[in-house]
Formats: sequence, C-alpha cells, structure tokens
Amino acid sequence: MEEAADEIDRGSRLAEEIDRRWRLTRSIEGTSGPPCIGLLTTEIPLGMIKNRDNLSPNCREVATARAAAACNTIMVYKRRDVTAVLVQRAERNGFKAIMLTVDTPRLGRREADIKNKMIAPQPKNLEGLLSTEAVSDNGSKLAAFAAETLDPSLCWKDIDWLRSVTSLPILVKGVLTAEDAIKAMEVGVAGIVVSNHGARQLDYSPATITVLEEVVRAVGGKIPVLIDGGVRRGTDIFKALALGAQAVMIGRPVLYGLAAKGEYGVRRVIEMLKDELELTMALSGCPTVKDITRSHVRTECDRFNCRL
Ligand SMILES: Cc1cc2nc3c(=O)[nH]c(=O)nc-3n(C[C@H](O)[C@H](O)[C@H](O)COP(=O)(O)O)c2cc1C
Repeated sequence: MEEAADEIDRGSRLAEEIDRRWRLTRSIEGTSGPPCIGLLTTEIPLGMIKNRDNLSPNCREVATARAAAACNTIMVYKRRDVTAVLVQRAERNGFKAIMLTVDTPRLGRREADIKNKMIAPQPKNLEGLLSTEAVSDNGSKLAAFAAETLDPSLCWKDIDWLRSVTSLPILVKGVLTAEDAIKAMEVGVAGIVVSNHGARQLDYSPATITVLEEVVRAVGGKIPVLIDGGVRRGTDIFKALALGAQAVMIGRPVLYGLAAKGEYGVRRVIEMLKDELELTMALSGCPTVKDITRSHVRTECDRFNCRL
C-alpha cells in the first residue's frame, strides 16, 4: 500500500497514546452499539469512504455499497465540467452529500508508487471524460495522471462553484486545524472531515486524532465533525467519539475486507468494528453512544496538565 515519501503513518500509533478512562458509574445493561451503519447523523458513528470519484456499478463498488452505505469523495479537476458530471451523477444515484477532498490540490510524493511504477487503471466512471491512457510517465502513472488533471488552484471560493452545480450539502475532507475549520464554516460547508488522507499526502502530517479536539472546539457544535485515519478497532471509534467526533470513517479496513472476501469481507469488517465498539462501551459504562463523553478518555495533553 503506497504512502507519502517515508511511509510515516502516525495515525494508529498516536491513537494508542490516548487512554480510555475506566468508568463504571452506571448500569450497562442493554448496552447497544451503533444502531446501523451509514453516514451523517448523530446516532450513526461509522461511515465508509468510497474513494476515487467512482460511481459506476463495477463489482467492487457494488459489493462495498451493498455491505454498507458508502460516501463518495469528489476532487476538483482542472476540467470543471468533469467534476460537475460526477457530482450530478452522485445526486442521481441517491447520495445524500458531497464530500470535497481539500487536501489534494496536487498529489503527495508517493515514493513507493514511483519505485514500483504504479499503473493507474482507467476508472470506469471517468470513461469518456478523462483518460489515464494518454498519460506518459516513467514513474507513477497515478502521479502523472493527477498532475495532468487535478486543479492546483483549488481554494475556498471553489465551494461556491460546487454549490452552483449541486443542491446537496457539501462537506470538506482534509481539515487539520482550527483556522481551516473556521474558514470552512464561513464558506458555509455542512460538515468537516478531519483527515490527513490516510497519511498518504505528506509525511509529518499530524495524526488526525491529535487535532480532532482543536477542530471540534473551533466548530463549537455548529456543524458535524467527522474523522478518518487509522481507525482499526472499536476502541479507536470510542476515542474519536469521546473527543467530539460525530462519526468516524474507515478507508483501508474496507479495502482489506473487500480484497480478502468481497462483500462478505466488508460486512465482516463492519461487524467486527461494531462488536468491538459495543464491548468498549459496555466496559466503559456507556449504554448508548450518546453516553460517551470527553471524560471517558485521557489524552497526552490531559496527562501533561495533571503534572502541572
Ligand atoms: C488506496 C487508497 C486510495 C485513496 N483515494 C482517495 C481519493 O481518491 N480521494 C480521497 O479523498 N481520499 C482517498 N484516500 C484516502 C481515504 O479517503 C481516507 O482519508 C483514508 O484512507 C483514511 O484512513 P484509513 O485508510 O487509515 O482508514 C485513499 C486511500 C487509499 C488507501
């Protein structure tokens, strides 16, 4: 799996540095995990990210979509008409929101891809719109395709443009600071995804769990804040919810499940996460998701303040 230059993914490691605080202050009889899987409501804490603006029915996408509600990410191409077509296709296919990836005005330097001369397969959804065939490159074809097609001038005013081509709510994916969260609210987004693109864009990007609270505080409950990156266990979901995320999203676990066992594999990944979350909630004295609070975790910052 390719990452940014030095393949530094701090997401999982840093998540381990956040402790769950053992609390059994109430009866946990009838503890229930998330009622269902989906996206964008306060009671549904797990979403799946459908990468690459691909909405066409190929078997992998159908398997993933059948296993759980998937969320599609959109990139802004130099050719705005292509982005507009993809957005409108999403609307027609019943997607409830558009998630604009804002951390990829250009692709990070993925050295493993360059070394392996990664091939960029022609995404079905881009057939007739953009071709990966024409891209000449002696390193990563994906990097060459991205350089040729992605719009490096992407900026906040593009939210206005996106709004002009869709009536769906727009979320931005790739926010890592309070400043960007505030800016995103100013331009009227419907939600924020704290994401570092799975640490695939730039080495030394912060682990998303470590900046989640900063963003949550800046947003002040006005719009939903979601998070992705390094979510591998139910305990990771619990930590993210305790730190104020409305939902978590998973990327690679879905791909692994899909690669191993197709639709069944994706379902198993989701079931395992649900079971693990339920157990964590039960052992933390939280009968429902709403009972998970900030006091259920201790961060590095809390530990530091304790020592003062
Ligand atoms: C193979 C692969 C392809 C990805 N492609 C995209 C993409 O096209 N657009 C995007 O916004 N994010 C993309 N991502 C990042 C994911 O959307 C997500 O932010 C990240 O995978 C979450 O971290 P996790 O994999 O640790 O769960 C990709 C991730 C992977 C692993």
